[in-house]
Amino acid sequence: MLYDTLIRGGRIVSSQGVHEGDVGISGDKIVSVGSLAADTAEQVIDATGLLVLPGLIDTQVHFREPGMEHKEDLESGTRAAILGGVTTIFEMPNTSPPTTSRDALHDKLIRAAGRAWCDYGFFVGATAENLDELAALELLPGSPGIKIFMGSSTGSLLLEGREFLHAALTNGTRRVSVHSEDEQRLRERKAAAADPCPVTEHPNIRDAESARISTEQLLQVSHETGRPVHVLHVSSADEIPLIREAKRQQVGRVTAEVTPQHLFFSAPEAYERLGSLAQMNPPIRSEEHRQALWAALQQGIFDIFGSDHAPHTLDEKAKPYPHSPSGMPGVQTMLPVLLTFFNQGRLTLEQVASLSSENPARLFGLRNKGRIAPSFLADLVLVDPARKVQFERSMVVSKCGWSPYEGETFTGWPVHVILQGKSVVKEGELIGKPSGQAAEYNWKA
Ligand code: DOR
Repeated sequence: MLYDTLIRGGRIVSSQGVHEGDVGISGDKIVSVGSLAADTAEQVIDATGLLVLPGLIDTQVHFREPGMEHKEDLESGTRAAILGGVTTIFEMPNTSPPTTSRDALHDKLIRAAGRAWCDYGFFVGATAENLDELAALELLPGSPGIKIFMGSSTGSLLLEGREFLHAALTNGTRRVSVHSEDEQRLRERKAAAADPCPVTEHPNIRDAESARISTEQLLQVSHETGRPVHVLHVSSADEIPLIREAKRQQVGRVTAEVTPQHLFFSAPEAYERLGSLAQMNPPIRSEEHRQALWAALQQGIFDIFGSDHAPHTLDEKAKPYPHSPSGMPGVQTMLPVLLTFFNQGRLTLEQVASLSSENPARLFGLRNKGRIAPSFLADLVLVDPARKVQFERSMVVSKCGWSPYEGETFTGWPVHVILQGKSVVKEGELIGKPSGQAAEYNWKA
């Protein structure tokens, strides 16, 4: 047999367009794309009427293991991912203990082996204590590189101050992912706020200026050091001109992420309706900010869609603000939300493939991932673009057991997912065993 699996008659999506065709898979790789003969395959998947996308690569999730497994663990988080068409995740280091050393990274890799439903990479967090080791840590197998929290969020990970940031960006070469909010301003504004106070105050306390100050500093230090940086979950209109200008001056060096939730929800409506379930960092902001993010997206300012999947239990979320934790789940719903935007005419399929698969793979140096082309790994998601699904709490896979999208109707749904050549989701159901592996990179130690 020429192929182990042949996906027939789907519409194949890439950043360059949508074309009808077949995909031939042998072992873990795509070997042919085009008009292929059906009698040359062991297994034929009929993709008539379906879209065939490269599996999504979500470069920002928080899966809570070790230390907070009651919110999520590596098995449940990757299960939510794969059922949502995400075939690779990069997990953030704010676990307990945080992933700030070789041993902590090794521990996560051991934990994931045999339990992960999708492929994975674990970021290493920068702290004032591990600055000298960052250049070595970022090259360890299993890691996509370094994450910096310039403003504190869930957990204790933080790298505060320009000098530390400068030192971190000087130690190493890979793209650094950064949570950009100014810690000093956050602290001052939090101290000045009433306790308790309404959660509608969240975007005022962690205001747009906190994000702007921090992003300005980050881009300056990136410029000084020449280090590529990736600005995570951009939330404000105020950061857009800075990022646009930095991209113009430092082509290819500065990249930026937008989340589906910052494009979907806005204040005060989301806080009034969802309470602290809408609380995340950086915050969901006003309609003006949301519109600015959409405009920036259409101008090509954003490179990556990331979910910032950050589960907390309903009990934890029920604490009075500001004691309610920040974060919302999203890895399972990222693709349905993006497909819904597509069906509303607000996003193209080319943008989905580009910002969810091709760019994440290219910008983080993932080996053989992110594209539907010969010699690439066969990580694929087959999508029914017309399927309408009203998303309910009972469908939430994350251990946190809720979603900010409950009651929303999505148009477009992942029905079949292939990871490294093996079908792992069929007709929306998991099949087989967890077969996720540590993703590999083109960086050499
Ligand atoms: O809202 C957030 N929650 N933002 C972050 O940066 C961290 C995350 C979490 O881990 O809960």
